[in-house]
Amino acid sequence: MKAVVIRKHGGPDVLSYEEINNPQPTKGHAIVRVDYCAVNHLDIWVRNGLPGKQVSFPHVLGCDICGTLVEGFGRFKKGEKVVVHPAIQSNIPRISFSIIGGFGKYHGGYAEMVLVPQKNIVKKPDWFTDAEASALNVSYLTAWNMLERSRCRKGDTILVWGANSGVGSAAILLARAKGLRVITVASNKSKSRLAKKLGAHLVIDRSRKDVITETLKHTNNQGVDAVIDHVGAKTWPISIEMLKVGGRMVACGTTTGGEANVNIRAFYSKEASIIGAYLGTKSQLISLHKFMKSRKIKPIIDSIFSLKDAKSAHQKMEKSSQFGKIILKISS
Ligand SMILES: NC(=O)c1ccc[n+]([C@@H]2O[C@H](COP(=O)([O-])OP(=O)(O)OC[C@H]3O[C@@H](n4cnc5c(N)ncnc54)[C@H](OP(=O)(O)O)[C@@H]3O)[C@@H](O)[C@H]2O)c1
Repeated sequence: MKAVVIRKHGGPDVLSYEEINNPQPTKGHAIVRVDYCAVNHLDIWVRNGLPGKQVSFPHVLGCDICGTLVEGFGRFKKGEKVVVHPAIQSNIPRISFSIIGGFGKYHGGYAEMVLVPQKNIVKKPDWFTDAEASALNVSYLTAWNMLERSRCRKGDTILVWGANSGVGSAAILLARAKGLRVITVASNKSKSRLAKKLGAHLVIDRSRKDVITETLKHTNNQGVDAVIDHVGAKTWPISIEMLKVGGRMVACGTTTGGEANVNIRAFYSKEASIIGAYLGTKSQLISLHKFMKSRKIKPIIDSIFSLKDAKSAHQKMEKSSQFGKIILKISS
């Protein structure tokens, strides 16, 4: 089968489009013919490599899969359209789980076929196209989990970093649909315009305005109920500063680094909370599907690349020139 594999860590050039062996059927597993696989920032972490994290080469990236079952099992039929919940058991102490195509033993969806545990298979909801369904298993699921963990109620104000990102654009759409007041941050005019179109109540263009000043100005100097922070080191100090008394910062990412310098006194004197979020469960994924269908929400797709152009897809994400999800079309 055709696949994009990495044989070493490095820049986009290590992505190699080649012929590899098909996966073989294994007990308790299903083979999925991959139709679409969305690109996530995790793919870049795995491609680059992270200290202390290992994969065995050659490795196939890709954690966000929509495809077709090669054989049926249980109540699933051969040829059925499915998506893959990407969490798999981790053998690393004190880590909830590993992710398919991530740092772990399972190959991912940058290939015509993928072998995954049967228990990770979820029926693809008819409301979404195959490409849309591939966009939901990571960014949207994580944003959904973060919103649940934020404990925000209708009418609360939430700040979402990175309006153009997979997680950020998902969080804006879902937060609006939950009745929250959404402040978001973008880094130029065109991203700000698209963020406004998504329904954010206030968009702060961080290339022109100070995020803390603008947020406080629009919240009567009170701050926000919660922040969705997937950016990490550069934004943690600002996120904490912008929380109101009793506010919650929900964190899931380290795009700008994993070690932040924060004002601890500002944090405890407003009795704030920092809450971690890691993907979401399979039942949360199913609830997310139902919620999006009931509110008639479709994921925001920036662009679709063919598998052999995975390198261009990565370059686009590394330049952060997307707005929404970048997707790879795998099977023709
Ligand atoms: N814990 C989990 O389960 C989980 C799940 C999904 C994702 N994540 C993590 O969440 C992060 C986002 O993932 P993604 O796939 O959505 O990534 P992405 O689409 O590549 O987005 C990256 C975002 O970071 C923003 N950004 C970069 N530098 C910034 C800065 N200095 N200040 C403010 N914003 C900045 C970019 O905004 P501009 O373009 O405006 O610079 C962009 O919106 C990644 O670190 C990923 O690993 C974690």
